[in-house]
Amino acid sequence: MSTAKLILEGRELELPVVVGTENETGIDISSLRAKSMAITLDPGYGNTGACRSAITFIDGEKGILRYRGYPIEELARGARFTEVCYLLIHGHLPSQDELDGFRHLLTYHSMIHEDMKKFFEGYSHSAHPMAILSSMVSALSTYYPITASDADIDLNIIRLLAKAKTIAAFAYKKSIGQPFSYPKNDLSYTANLLHMMFSVPTEQYEVPAVLDDVLNLLLVLHADHEQNCSTSTVRLVGSSDANLFASVAAGICALWGRLHGGANQNVIEMLKMMHDDGGDFRKYLDKAKDSGSGFRLMGFGHRVYKNFDPRATILKEAADKVLSDLHVDDPLLEIAKNLEEAALEDDYFVERKLYPNVDFYSGIIYRAMGIPTDMFTVIFALGRIPGWVAHWKELRQDPDRRIGRPRQIYVGEPQRAFVPMNRR
Ligand code: ACO
Repeated sequence: MSTAKLILEGRELELPVVVGTENETGIDISSLRAKSMAITLDPGYGNTGACRSAITFIDGEKGILRYRGYPIEELARGARFTEVCYLLIHGHLPSQDELDGFRHLLTYHSMIHEDMKKFFEGYSHSAHPMAILSSMVSALSTYYPITASDADIDLNIIRLLAKAKTIAAFAYKKSIGQPFSYPKNDLSYTANLLHMMFSVPTEQYEVPAVLDDVLNLLLVLHADHEQNCSTSTVRLVGSSDANLFASVAAGICALWGRLHGGANQNVIEMLKMMHDDGGDFRKYLDKAKDSGSGFRLMGFGHRVYKNFDPRATILKEAADKVLSDLHVDDPLLEIAKNLEEAALEDDYFVERKLYPNVDFYSGIIYRAMGIPTDMFTVIFALGRIPGWVAHWKELRQDPDRRIGRPRQIYVGEPQRAFVPMNRR
């Protein structure tokens, strides 16, 4: 085993080096404090590995993303979302029998308990659907046994995957004041979501194949992304032995932020702002370069990808096709393309290696599909649930698991004496 040497205040310390299957190298500093009383400091964990994981591999320099070894481009071309869920959670692609069984379970667990429908009456009609999704997912733990038995956990995984889409669709129906549409057992996962969002009791609704296919693509592309902010949140919460529903509800909240999954909503709001301002994207490009403005190009930049985000490349192509198939002419697509071109030629973005990320083109596709802006991050969350589940499960089975508990460097007041006030 190779080692790394650290010289700290003249004392040499030897630390083990861990190498992954793709030759990524990590210095194992878990014994550092015991050996030296020193810790490592890494705000935002940009250089810190928190676990060993066998789920997803990313090489940000080369723009590589693989789930369980399978390149994202190949999965995006040929896999159904349910297959990808199975792959991430079980570690291998399902046989036909395994897939049929998995689909059957996902279908037959897709209704929510009738009592849970009453919760929707309590939410304001203007409630953000991410708030509804996270609270309803947490509330699933009030309906189902949350024991540590493998059988309960396996069934709760199915319940979560199956019911989250029903909750998401009901949250949308609530926001527009329409009656809920129940899931149908003869529809696939993606077709069911579209049916529950767009069907109304007064009309026959056939799920358009083009919508079904593009929704499948979006969910596959979002299914996992190793130790990002929301997945790390799920793992951190899960490390305290919190149940699956509670851990995933925390992940949904983390995803909601505008620097993470919430960016897809912000991208569209930004493009609309540029459009309403006469399409003058260069003004906003300049503003994004001014650190004092507090403005960033939403959908640009990534902690890991420093060349291109392969998901954004796939979605850029898909956006053209979907808009043409749906006969949608969206001026925001034109602005997005011009903005991307200008940014990629601009020294500020080139030097900082800022490229469009997955959220840059996804919003344009959601819009063309008729999905309202508030629901964009919800669709992202539905796609990411299998990834969160896979990480939560992997963590539970990890023999090296310890409760997540970072340290800090204290920079507050040194000890001082408390002088009591002269109170009566
Ligand atoms: N627009 C303008 N400048 C940017 C942007 C941007 N979108 N992103 C980063 N920068 C600049 C920073 O100001 C900083 O400049 P400096 O070195 O002069 O101070 C430099 O690039 C590095 O940025 P950091 O914030 O240190 O990068 P970090 O890795 O911490 O952040 C993040 C990554 C959060 C994605 C960031 O690029 C960002 O805010 N992007 C916009 C929001 C977004 O699209 N988020 C979705 C990410 S994908 C996902 O989560 C699904």
